[in-house]
Amino acid sequence: MSLANFLQQLDRLEAEAASTLGEVADSEALETARVRFMGAKKGLLKDIQKLLGSVEVADKPAAGKRLNEVKGAIQTAFDEAKQRLDSGTTERQGPQPDPTLPGTPLRLGHLHPVTQTIEHLKEIMGRMGFTTAEGPEVEDPWHNFVALNIPEDHPARDPLDNFYLATAGATSGLEGSRLMRSQTSTVQIRVMETTPPPVRIISLGRVYRPDAPDATHFPMFHQMEGLYVATDVTMANLKTVLRIFANNYLGGDVEIRFRPSFFPFTEPSVEVDFLWNDNWIEFGGAGMVDPAVLASVGYDPESVSGFAFGLGVERLCMRRHGITDIRDLFSGDLRFLKQF
Ligand code: DAH
Repeated sequence: MSLANFLQQLDRLEAEAASTLGEVADSEALETARVRFMGAKKGLLKDIQKLLGSVEVADKPAAGKRLNEVKGAIQTAFDEAKQRLDSGTTERQGPQPDPTLPGTPLRLGHLHPVTQTIEHLKEIMGRMGFTTAEGPEVEDPWHNFVALNIPEDHPARDPLDNFYLATAGATSGLEGSRLMRSQTSTVQIRVMETTPPPVRIISLGRVYRPDAPDATHFPMFHQMEGLYVATDVTMANLKTVLRIFANNYLGGDVEIRFRPSFFPFTEPSVEVDFLWNDNWIEFGGAGMVDPAVLASVGYDPESVSGFAFGLGVERLCMRRHGITDIRDLFSGDLRFLKQF
């Protein structure tokens, strides 16, 4: 073999080893490279070394010298790669990171104001012994209407009677169908169906109504339902609980008014108004649970009585924080939501 040819092979080997070892990313790749270039039996250096025998005697000193140089260079490249992997740093191109710079602050989110309100309401009512119950948002007409003393042809269904879900195989009629619940009063029924008296619960959740959005209406909103059934529960208990609640949530000076009204599932019934900027604003309804409702869930109306109420969570939240348009709560605009 000619000297030129031998030296050329050494150059190629040196270049390949330098680039391979310069890039190995883990110890496994390093070991593979070591075997490939420096392996005692089949390594590429070994192969070239064997060729040395076929170089002209006169050229051997030059060839041997260069061979030793390349061996040394590959060993050095290997040592550097090993050190780089051991110290865990991968060489970077360009400017080096400055570990003393302040970090990028994490952007922390927070609970939506309505969720914050729900937590607050649970806490206040919890102190008065009300535990939290839950019910489904997709309801059947029995829980949304019939058990609440609202039969199929009752006019009280009218403003609530919407958002039915298509039912596979349904032919006609609404019974047997499903709808988005229009009130959390459904949970009163669900709790009483499965729990003997006494019960003292609140339930917080979404309800759906065919209301056109404006500053005080939205087709989806939240209610806090309350139900207390035991022996000798009276209207005085209802008024006291709601007053204590209002004072805790809105302050000791809030003015609250009970206005005679009608709900099919309470008798007598009242609407609950709070004074807000010199106007009486309705926050919900309440009343003494109608004996027909108690009977529909198998309670004995002769031995137990109860009160119930349903308040709008958004209105409570708005009143407390001075929010004037319910739509802002659901706009998804973080500039608004971040204030709470
Ligand atoms: N469910 C009624 C509504 O959505 C509010 C309500 C009124 C709830 C009287 C009650 C109640 O529990 O007793 O308008």
